[in-house]
Amino acid sequence: MLLSGFARVDALRKIMTDSRQTAHAQDIFSASPGSEVTVHGWVVRKNSVGGIVFVVIRDGSGYVQVSAKNSIADEDAMKAIKAVSRESLVTVHGTVRDDGRAPGGREISTKSFKVLSKAETWPITKTASKSASFLYNIRHLSIRSRKVVATMKIRAEVIGAAFDFFRSRGFTLISAPSFVQAAVEGGSTLFSVDYFGKSVNLSQSAQFYEEAALPALEKVWIFQPAFRAERSRTAKHLTEFWMIEAEQAFADQTENMRLQEELLSFITNRVLGDRQTELKILGRTLREFQLPLPRITYDEVLRASSKEGVPFRWGEDIPTEAERVISMKHDTPFFITDYPLSARSFYHQTYEGRPDVTKSADLIAPEGFGELATGGQRIAEHEALLDRIKGQDLPSESFGWYLELRKYGMPVHSGFGIGVERTTRWLGGLKHIRAASLFPRTLSRVSP
Ligand code: 4AD
Ligand code: MG
Repeated sequence: MLLSGFARVDALRKIMTDSRQTAHAQDIFSASPGSEVTVHGWVVRKNSVGGIVFVVIRDGSGYVQVSAKNSIADEDAMKAIKAVSRESLVTVHGTVRDDGRAPGGREISTKSFKVLSKAETWPITKTASKSASFLYNIRHLSIRSRKVVATMKIRAEVIGAAFDFFRSRGFTLISAPSFVQAAVEGGSTLFSVDYFGKSVNLSQSAQFYEEAALPALEKVWIFQPAFRAERSRTAKHLTEFWMIEAEQAFADQTENMRLQEELLSFITNRVLGDRQTELKILGRTLREFQLPLPRITYDEVLRASSKEGVPFRWGEDIPTEAERVISMKHDTPFFITDYPLSARSFYHQTYEGRPDVTKSADLIAPEGFGELATGGQRIAEHEALLDRIKGQDLPSESFGWYLELRKYGMPVHSGFGIGVERTTRWLGGLKHIRAASLFPRTLSRVSP
């Protein structure tokens, strides 16, 4: 009988649930020896030793070894397991047994073995896997690796920790549009798209929308994609990434930095507490750090990096190489504060009597990883912001509603944005930021 629509889906689901009586690969290690289990999984490798076939299978929980020999497995099972190809989806039914030679000291002794979906020849051979660009070309398949799985678990922990952190601090999670008009972080990295015959931009940052939400909600945060037309090929730039941003009314830059370091500490401790296995898979030694984090000024960085032979001019943004050199000198994250206005976006509040220096900071990861977050105090007064926009020859009409906010009771406020993939890259000790994204978007990559 042919079932259609929902009836068919329900029937399929029932078959799946019935047959998963239901162990995951990792459950084997807490089951009692002798108990019978059924596991669905994907074949990772296979070999035979003296008439016994060993197969390692993977599911969402991890890896388990399966063994099969004639005296225990039925005839069909032996036939199926001998012929099974890598990455085929299989169902194994058997008995849990201790075996010192199996990874983790446990295995499933097969009684029955069925191939649910046979895989073609797996393209990721040992030689092929040495080419990073090949692996990213077939990322839809290569994401099944241990390292990618470990990285995605750490990334999910970063995001989950942020949800818990902001909820416990009374911040409201908001959302903002991705189709926007204004350039929050300057025109040079804007993506424009056709919007019914009109050109609009993809959002670089939700900051302006967060600011607009302050008189309604006071403390907000947001978690959504940001788009940057980055033309540089670096280990820390994606063209699409996820950003965690927060904005607080009645908070100055001192308070803003405190919030950032507490968030980073909360995230780091969560990963240290719950993701040791994944850190080990990535070969990463990550250490806890004490608060407050060190704070050094832009001027101090300028002097220190000149001494290290990486000079730059006051007023420029800190060049990547100088940032790397300073970052190498630290073994905990730290802040670089007091950036020149010329190196910052127009909306930054400056110090009284120091109109060239902003109340802003970057949060920098140690060991050469570099910038994780940027934050600052915003101009809250209408006249001051209008003067700034005019002073920088920016089109004030593009910032109409952002300016108007300042006419209707805008409090002192500050905020920041921290990149999810940058943070994951640092926590996991990853060479390149693209490894922190399941399907990275870079200058040269929009597929898969
Ligand atoms: O430093 P950025 O440009 O600051 C802002 O967008 C502010 N408006 C945020 C705010 O105050 N609400 O971006 C913030 C963070 C960076 O520190 C970095 O972690 C990440 O976003 N980021 C990128 N990550 C990956 N690829 C890129 N091209 C990135 N550009 C920024
Ligand atoms: Mg920045």
